[in-house]
Formats: sequence, structure tokens, C-alpha cells
Amino acid sequence: MKIIRDLAALRATSAESRQNGRRLALVPTMGALHAGHLALVAAARQAAETVAVSIFVNPLQFLASEDLSRYPRDEAGDLAKLSAAGCDLVWMPEVATMYPDGAATTVEVAGPAEGYEGSARPGHFRGVATVCTKLFSQTGADVAVFGEKDWQQLQVVRRFVADLDLPIRIQAHATVREADGLAMSSRNVRLSEAERAVAPTLPRVMQSVLGAIRGGAPLAPTLAHGMATLREAGFAPDYLDLVQPETLRPWESGPGRLLAAAKLGDVRLLDNMAL
Ligand code: PAF
Repeated sequence: MKIIRDLAALRATSAESRQNGRRLALVPTMGALHAGHLALVAAARQAAETVAVSIFVNPLQFLASEDLSRYPRDEAGDLAKLSAAGCDLVWMPEVATMYPDGAATTVEVAGPAEGYEGSARPGHFRGVATVCTKLFSQTGADVAVFGEKDWQQLQVVRRFVADLDLPIRIQAHATVREADGLAMSSRNVRLSEAERAVAPTLPRVMQSVLGAIRGGAPLAPTLAHGMATLREAGFAPDYLDLVQPETLRPWESGPGRLLAAAKLGDVRLLDNMAL
């Protein structure tokens, strides 16, 4: 497994691995890897001859009020997991490599980037879209694998890839869950023992809301009841809403996606499920 920190070396390795029609699949990450990330690596293995994983805690997608230094980091552990998972190449740039002095270009996405995480974390998706555009360009990846766990992020990425005619295919992978249903996330390690015990209530409430809607219950009161149940369980819910899957516009009929964000202590949990 090659560990690359220099852009020229990355370009050379990528060009070499993509000779003779061989494809390169990228899994973009911010490290602190868990089984959910490794499932993306396994999917990338199926999608292409060469698998690259990027590890970069992207300052551009954190708000000024969010403590970037508290984001979990485990470089040695991540590299051991990636090596065992059969990753070929790890791209680990420094902040100065990604955003050199004088950098003045960002990628701003409207549509699916508006509302929900876009409102809760203004500028977050600009950071995500900018870093992903750069990662796609730097690696020359043919395909990039993203988890459905960050549903809005996935739609934002699909949107700018289509809008900018980027020559890359975006492949989604189903959310990987703990045995009790909690969606895997690097942030889960910050939950206290008591909070971790409460956390699976979020997917349980979502399942029950979906069950009620499928059964014909009226939307607004069902969502309001779901929010109240989360509050009673100790969450500070931000939103629980049913939207159209790709545009994130309000759901009326047909396919829908239930989106949820709720804080438990100071950890913000995100989840989503198909109607
Ligand atoms: O989902 C993440 O870990 C990040 O938002 C991503 C896609 C790696 C961009 O920094």
C-alpha cells in the first residue's frame, strides 16, 4: 500500500495505475475509519482495479464555531485498517497542499445543498464540494464511493458532478449500522456510555415514523410526534423531515427519504432512511 503526501507523486501513481484501461476508485474520508468506511473500500475494490482512499480532515467544511481539533484522528490505526482491507493507495495531503496561500476558488452548490445540514452548518457543503472536486481532479478517479449515511452530501456531490460535467461516476453504498441499529459514524466515539445507550432510539423512532406514514398516517402530525418522542428520550432534535430523495424538496408522493439530525449531549447524530 502506497502512502502519498505529495501531489506530483499522486499524479504519477494515479497515471500509472490507470494505464491500459484500468480504473481507479476513490473513497474520500476524513480518517477515524470504522467498519462503515471499510465497507466503502470493499465496494471500491469491486468497482475498479485500483483502490485509493483519501484521508484529509478538511478545514473548509467546518464552521468557525466547530472545533476542528476535536475531530477524531488515528493515522496509525487508519493505515493498518486500510492495509488489511486491500487498499492500494492512501492520499494524505497537508492543508497547505490542498489550500495553498492565495487559493481563491470554491465550489458553491444550490439545490440539494440548501436546508437541513446546509442551514445548520452554513458553508459546510461549499467545503465538501470544493474538497471533493479537488480530490477527484488530483486522483483522476473513474469512480468515487460515498456512504448513504450522509444523504444530503451524496446528493450535493451528484449534483455538482453532473453540473460541472466531471468525468467520474458516483457510487452510493448503504449505511452500515451497529447491531442495535445506530448508523456508524466517526463521531459516535464521542458519545458517553449513557448517550450511546440512548442513541439507537433515533433509528427506532425513524422506523416507527416511516411505518406510520406507510400506513397512511398524516405527515405533519406524524413528524411532530417523532420529534416529541426524540425530545422525551433526551435528544435535542434539529429536524425530522420527509423529502424527495434527490432534490430534498418537500415530499408529496412517490419515493421519499426521511432525514433526521439530533444532538445527544454535544454530538450531532445524522441518519436517513428510504420511505
Ligand atoms: O464524508 C466525509 O467524510 C467528508 O465530508 C468527505 C466526503 C471526505 C469530504 O471531506
